[in-house]
Amino acid sequence: MAVDLLLGLQWGDEGKGKIVDVLTSKYNIIARFQGGPNAGHTLVFNGKKHVLHTIPSGIFHDNATNLVGNGVVIDPVIFKGELDKLEEQHIDYRKSLLISRKAHIILPTHRLLDAASEASKGKAKIGSTLKGIGPTYMDKTGRNGIRVGDLELRDWKERYRALADKHESMIAYYNVDIEYNLPELEAEFFKAVEVLKSIPFIDSEEYIYQAQKSGKTILAEGAQGSLLDIDFGTYPYVTSSNTTAAGACTGLGVSPNNIGDVFGIFKAYTTRVGSGPFPTELFDENGATMSRVGHEFGATTGRPRRCGWLDLVALKYACQVNGVTQLMMMKGDVLSGFKTLKVCTAYNYKGDIIEHLPYNIEPENVQPIYTEFKGWNEDLTAMTEASELPKPLNDYIDFLEKELEIPITIVSVGPDRKQTIFR
Ligand code: IMP
Repeated sequence: MAVDLLLGLQWGDEGKGKIVDVLTSKYNIIARFQGGPNAGHTLVFNGKKHVLHTIPSGIFHDNATNLVGNGVVIDPVIFKGELDKLEEQHIDYRKSLLISRKAHIILPTHRLLDAASEASKGKAKIGSTLKGIGPTYMDKTGRNGIRVGDLELRDWKERYRALADKHESMIAYYNVDIEYNLPELEAEFFKAVEVLKSIPFIDSEEYIYQAQKSGKTILAEGAQGSLLDIDFGTYPYVTSSNTTAAGACTGLGVSPNNIGDVFGIFKAYTTRVGSGPFPTELFDENGATMSRVGHEFGATTGRPRRCGWLDLVALKYACQVNGVTQLMMMKGDVLSGFKTLKVCTAYNYKGDIIEHLPYNIEPENVQPIYTEFKGWNEDLTAMTEASELPKPLNDYIDFLEKELEIPITIVSVGPDRKQTIFR
């Protein structure tokens, strides 16, 4: 069976966790392929909210196996926190959670390095979640990292020490004011590593290969969004992994010819958390309304998200890079009550009108050109059928489908599993 992918098409926080949860009953295996605890995937069901950072969003379903793939970076302390929360809710993760031996480990000093690097950047800071993601991927590509499989080796603590000592000298090099108590952080880390070791470590590319061969259905769950991709995002204001479809091949060991459907998730408007250009960002009452109604605060850091109109130029780009086959539009309900809606359909790029995402999208290079749409007042949150959706929303959806040439198969009208309309 081909592996289906589910990816965010904007700057993250599109609502991927909810849709994975909604789709999980169709899949035997849910696999995370990149990123780490910088992600915050929110799921709401039975009146309760659950936030996952590293563990795949299929964990609440009895019959799905959840795999943390080789492309993921794992902080044992945060991972243990996630397991503790699952235990509190009597979720038996022991029979349904697997970890790739090739996934890399985030050390306490990676987090400190992240903080030191950001502090040294001053105004040019990335706005990182400070979870140690960048430094861990740097050690991965620099061939210095510690992998999950290394935890099974006798000398892993010696390797740990050598790397942590190196990190400490790097932190000193940054010459910024960062207070920390490493022995305390390490005690917590080593305790969490023991818990991590209670989860089966596997050669996940072989597992995925055999699962495909035996006809198992697999959904690869992306984290962050396409515009945060290390290659195709708004560099340097990006994360450190490939968040786009190609990342699923390298992050799980799936060959490109074994990719099936690519589900692209996007919000009916746009948000961004952290620094970096955002052409359709709003600084007015409309942006404040999106933020308030959409509860736009980071699930991992609690930071307020920047809000703006839908950017179709950027969305088209993301669809192209990922080969999206089906679209899922989230948070349509948040746009109820706007008299007029705007969609950015082109950019004024240094005096030229263009419809593709150029190299520079900073405000001095790019001004958005908008198409306006009539808004609607109906509350969508209790709607369950596509036939109930108001006409102006259907016009908005029809326009997007026509422009993107991809069907919008799900419209989400609230955070709960049940608030999902299939088209
Ligand atoms: P890092 O990956 O924590 O280093 O953060 C790099 C950039 O990506 C920052 O602008 C973060 O705010 C953003 N980012 C990282 N993870 C997420 C996410 O899951 N959702 C939204 N933004 C994210």
